[in-house]
Amino acid sequence: MPTKPGRTDELFDFASRYLVAGVSGSARLNAATGRPLYLTHGDGSRVYDVDGREFIDYNLSHGATFLGHNHPRIREGIEKALAMGVICAYETEYHSRAARLISETVPCAERVRFANSGSEATMSAIRLARAHTKRDKILKFEGHFHGLHDYVMWNAHGPARAEFPTYPYVPLLVESAGVPKEIAQFVIVVPWNDPAAFQQAMREHGDELAAVICEPVNYNSGCIPPEPGMLELLRAETTKHGALLIFDEVLSGFRMAPGGAQQYYGVTPDVCTLAKAVANGLPLAVIAGKAEFMRTFSPFGPAAHSGTYSGHLFAMLAVIASLTEIRQDGFYPAIFAKAERLYGGLADLFASHGVPVRVQGLGARFGIYFGVTKEVKCYQDCATIDGDLGYKFIRACFERGLYFHNYGKLALGHHGFSASHSLADIEETLNRVEDALHNL
Ligand SMILES: Cc1ncc(COP(=O)(O)O)c(C=O)c1O
Repeated sequence: MPTKPGRTDELFDFASRYLVAGVSGSARLNAATGRPLYLTHGDGSRVYDVDGREFIDYNLSHGATFLGHNHPRIREGIEKALAMGVICAYETEYHSRAARLISETVPCAERVRFANSGSEATMSAIRLARAHTKRDKILKFEGHFHGLHDYVMWNAHGPARAEFPTYPYVPLLVESAGVPKEIAQFVIVVPWNDPAAFQQAMREHGDELAAVICEPVNYNSGCIPPEPGMLELLRAETTKHGALLIFDEVLSGFRMAPGGAQQYYGVTPDVCTLAKAVANGLPLAVIAGKAEFMRTFSPFGPAAHSGTYSGHLFAMLAVIASLTEIRQDGFYPAIFAKAERLYGGLADLFASHGVPVRVQGLGARFGIYFGVTKEVKCYQDCATIDGDLGYKFIRACFERGLYFHNYGKLALGHHGFSASHSLADIEETLNRVEDALHNL
């Protein structure tokens, strides 16, 4: 129960005097509650806020805290790094150990470079593809989010299309002001899980493309897995046209298999990007790929890549801890058992209360589509999304100690659980959701 009701509001007012909108990044605000969480601490499956409230967390640092908060192995890693003297911008033996672990775990990762954020990683991967192919255009998919730099701020969220006279090309929609309109000439967007659209785009533009980039599981639109054959098609067409295939596994990485979606589906891209779960909450991203392409990075090749904080030692030790943990026997069977209970339980509860909601999940992340009842196979299938219902549900859960994040009324968003969530946590969650639905 709250010990000091209103402390969040006080802090929000205070923070808003110094931080734009009271937050360090816009996505910190939960659109449904109108506030960020101001935390005192996190532990395991739970976070605790300044009002003394405890929440079972289904946001988990936008997906970064895959093992759970305050994980002992991660703490050990950080303490070891701290004892070495806050080393930054030098190499240590742990950098190559972390890279080796990634290389042994992720199929395409013959060579590895580090960066600090997913946005930085996709920016570098695209640069590498452009430098390697000497082409400028990229093809991406509607509803796929690849970060905040200008080349990918297109058609990630946006409103649903009413008609589609430009098929197979989705009319370009920029996600932010400040992106030069000239960038549009370098971007082609087609719908996800539409082989015919993709094939036509490749016939017409394949030879101009530096890369095709995708989220192999489109978690940024909830959870939209690839239809059977889709990833294989991307693989075949990019090879045919000499474009690189980039899997952005910032969110899908490690979520359903140690080697991410590329291992789970058995399709190996040329290059992939990783972040979030790879260092369990420490700021780290990875650009990894086949050696012949990764050699395009300086100093071997012409594509610049570096950074003062790239491969910070704290994060390196966290990568080693994190990958050691997920490679243990029994790790993924436990994830899948919890996934089945949680997603099945939620779907049953919505159905039994007559609430039109679809739940889709794979591994440890999932989407809840309010106002949608049919299977979601592409962004357009969410045209009927009911933002008001989503808000009501998230607020009702919030009052009952369940934290679901909301990125905007009509944003599809994504949720997840961690390895620290127990089956008992999931049962408790389902009980609280049932109570929330009774009172909606
Ligand atoms: C698939 C994907 N790519 C890139 C990014 C950007 O990562 P970051 O927020 O670390 O810049 C995200 C962030 O959510 C993501 O989900």
